[in-house]
Amino acid sequence: MTEIKKVAVIGAGTMGASIAAALIAKNYPVLLKESSETFLARGLATIDSILKKGVEKGKVSPQDATTQRGLVTGTLDYANFFDIDLVIEAVPEQVEIKKSVLKDLNDNCKASAIIASNTSSMSISQLGSFSSRPAKTIGMHFFNPAHLMKLVEIIPGLETDQETIDTVIDFATKLGKLAVQVDECASFLVNRLLGRYMNESLWCLEEGIASQDEIDQKTCEYNMPVGPLALRDMNGADIGLWVAKYNQSEYGPRFEVPPLLESMVKANYLGKKTKKGFYIYDDQGVKIGSNPDLAKFVKPATSGDFKAERLFLPMINEAFLALQENVCRKEDLDKALCAGLGMRKGPLALANEMGLSLCLMLMEENFQKHGERYRPAPLLKRYVFAGRETID
Ligand SMILES: NC(=O)c1ccc[n+]([C@@H]2O[C@H](COP(=O)([O-])OP(=O)(O)OC[C@H]3O[C@@H](n4cnc5c(N)ncnc54)[C@H](O)[C@@H]3O)[C@@H](O)[C@H]2O)c1
Repeated sequence: MTEIKKVAVIGAGTMGASIAAALIAKNYPVLLKESSETFLARGLATIDSILKKGVEKGKVSPQDATTQRGLVTGTLDYANFFDIDLVIEAVPEQVEIKKSVLKDLNDNCKASAIIASNTSSMSISQLGSFSSRPAKTIGMHFFNPAHLMKLVEIIPGLETDQETIDTVIDFATKLGKLAVQVDECASFLVNRLLGRYMNESLWCLEEGIASQDEIDQKTCEYNMPVGPLALRDMNGADIGLWVAKYNQSEYGPRFEVPPLLESMVKANYLGKKTKKGFYIYDDQGVKIGSNPDLAKFVKPATSGDFKAERLFLPMINEAFLALQENVCRKEDLDKALCAGLGMRKGPLALANEMGLSLCLMLMEENFQKHGERYRPAPLLKRYVFAGRETID
């Protein structure tokens, strides 16, 4: 294992600034590279505000905040990259930008430096091929905001060497994170499973199974810190649509994109950023009610018998599919979902609580009604055929 002493972060946007804050909180010196003075100043201001909030909440003393801030060096070039041990790139999710940054890193970093990407969707194996040092390239997927969220998915590419994997897992652990190794697959583990649940919430709304308030409220009561539709409004329907289309293109019909999402984007009902999504928001971003104009796109909610389990069944099924593909260790799956999404119980714990035979029965019933979204995972069937009610 290599000891990581100096770290660089590329891009000081939403993720880069909060990753830098997570690093300085553990006393790592950080070289923060941006593409312009304006963006660098914005990123440094974000770090200042994270530190200020930490002081106000009593999480960090004013002296420590000053010391930590002193650990960040902003830069617009690669002149001081020669002794960096680990680079975390957090530039926009566009292949040409990533490619050019990886080439620059390859030209400016020492041979032993590890190049980690915070990509949400790109292939780590492909990014490794751009850097010409695939053995030292790895995915390090932080969750937003990185200084607060506990999970980091560690994704080796096809050529990543074991020393790089061990070093990065050890480093993420030293940052106080839960580091979970995930095999390369579209959206990795947590967002892949989240995608099934998010889509299902939209199908339920669209089909008139329940109103947005009922879906969010029952889901929170059942297992989540925030309902799926409120979460979609926070992240933006445009980003949600891009991710949903990407998942469908990678995984096929079980990730079919609910037409409602596209309609919302066309109507500019993007959520908090346009003050109108599933809900309506005031200028401060505070929810003031449901969006009545959604009635154009959804059937009136009539049944009143919505059960939150309906959203978690596709997630449970996807968890079995992921285990079948060895995407992660069984013992890591629930821990990753709980740390990444704030779930109180992970999908496997929910499946165990329901009993696997009931899970399968409900999947089969829904498969008859709704098709591919509910086709039971072969591994789930095997457990039930073997007479197992839990996956412990
Ligand atoms: N936003 C999220 O919730 C989230 C969560 C997990 C992962 N990610 C991933 O993190 C990465 C960054 O996302 P983001 O939301 O922080 O994007 P962002 O647009 O907020 O920030 C990207 C920053 O990179 C800078 N940049 C562009 N080219 C650069 C270059 N050549 N050198 C230095 N800086 C450069 C931009 O000026 C910008 O400030 C993406 O790969 C994204 O998929 C995002």
